[in-house]
Amino acid sequence: MSQSLTIGCHTVPFPVIQGGMGVRVSAGNLAGHVARCGGIGIVASAGIGVGSRFYDGGNYFVAEPLALQEEIRKAYAIAPEGVVGVNCMVATTDSDTLIKAACEAGAKIIICGAGLPMNLPGLTVDYPDVALVPIVSSVKAAELIARKWSKNFKRLPDAVIVEDPETAGGHLGAKPEEIGDGSYDQMATVRGVKQMLREKFECNSPVITAGGIWDRGDLLEALEAGADGVQMGTRFVTTAECDADDAFKQAYLNCSKEDIGLIMSPAGLPGRALVKNVPAIQERERRLDTNCPLACLKKCSYRQNKERFCIINALDRAQRGDVKTGLIFCGSNAWRADRIETVQEVFDDLFELKAAAVNQ
Ligand SMILES: Cc1cc2nc3c(=O)[nH]c(=O)nc-3n(C[C@H](O)[C@H](O)[C@H](O)COP(=O)(O)O)c2cc1C
Repeated sequence: MSQSLTIGCHTVPFPVIQGGMGVRVSAGNLAGHVARCGGIGIVASAGIGVGSRFYDGGNYFVAEPLALQEEIRKAYAIAPEGVVGVNCMVATTDSDTLIKAACEAGAKIIICGAGLPMNLPGLTVDYPDVALVPIVSSVKAAELIARKWSKNFKRLPDAVIVEDPETAGGHLGAKPEEIGDGSYDQMATVRGVKQMLREKFECNSPVITAGGIWDRGDLLEALEAGADGVQMGTRFVTTAECDADDAFKQAYLNCSKEDIGLIMSPAGLPGRALVKNVPAIQERERRLDTNCPLACLKKCSYRQNKERFCIINALDRAQRGDVKTGLIFCGSNAWRADRIETVQEVFDDLFELKAAAVNQ
């Protein structure tokens, strides 16, 4: 397979985007190594300030853009010629600030999920080369975005990522009762988004599938079924270069299929995670009875009604290695992880690079 991927004016040799994984699971190190190997490396902006050297416990909104820019610079130090982008969650309070900070620091692609990024082209108007990519889980959402962007900004998405609520990790774009009821068809949605862009907007932007891609077989199947590329999160967690603590990676290595399930996030969205320790997270919250420390989300049931738990702190604890009371997001494939590998080994496996080198 020799299929490159072009998004806006940026081309990478391999059709792989490393999915943004918030609260420093994908920061500069992972993104830089993916970009160096020929994929698109993504720094996740959500909660990146917590756990950074800029955060003093009280200056979250100051630390966030500074930490994001530092991680983008780290990624480019690893892959000076690579394509490094930033993932932003529309549901976070400071997403607009982080999008602007990302452009300023040289992000080549902005990928937005967890909400519809209706004003994204307006925020990046001074950076016309920055490619803009929404994440959706329905043709309807993709069409809504394309219509708004075209009407208000004379711009169309440079790519669309279709995320599969049945398999992807982290926050999901479907109602909990719809997940697992057999009504959702990922590849039909990918083809539907493509057809809608071509027919209604004369737009040839690539459509990327996200969720459930683990090995070369999965990748080839997705490309065969009509995707122009894949976004992969879970497989990159158990790499040496992933920015999470070793205990986080070990939790993936130790888990079985039954440990992976759905939680309801205080953001009002379902999320896929290792669910065994969720009672311990809630118990900790009840015992300590803390108030919302940051207001990191625009809408949060913990801040508003003390429901569930503080998600940024739970994700931060897990990222630092507290896997007992931390929240470990993962995709449905986490049980397939059986060793720590390098990012290069993942690319070797996906694209049979070693075999290709021997045959040359
Ligand atoms: C630990 C973890 C954290 C994630 N955080 C984010 C995030 O901050 N923003 C986002 O848009 N998607 C997030 N995701 C989703 C991934 O970017 C990716 O699209 C998805 O997991 C793809 O499915 P896969 O994990 O089966 O490859 C996260 C996924 C994981 C596993």
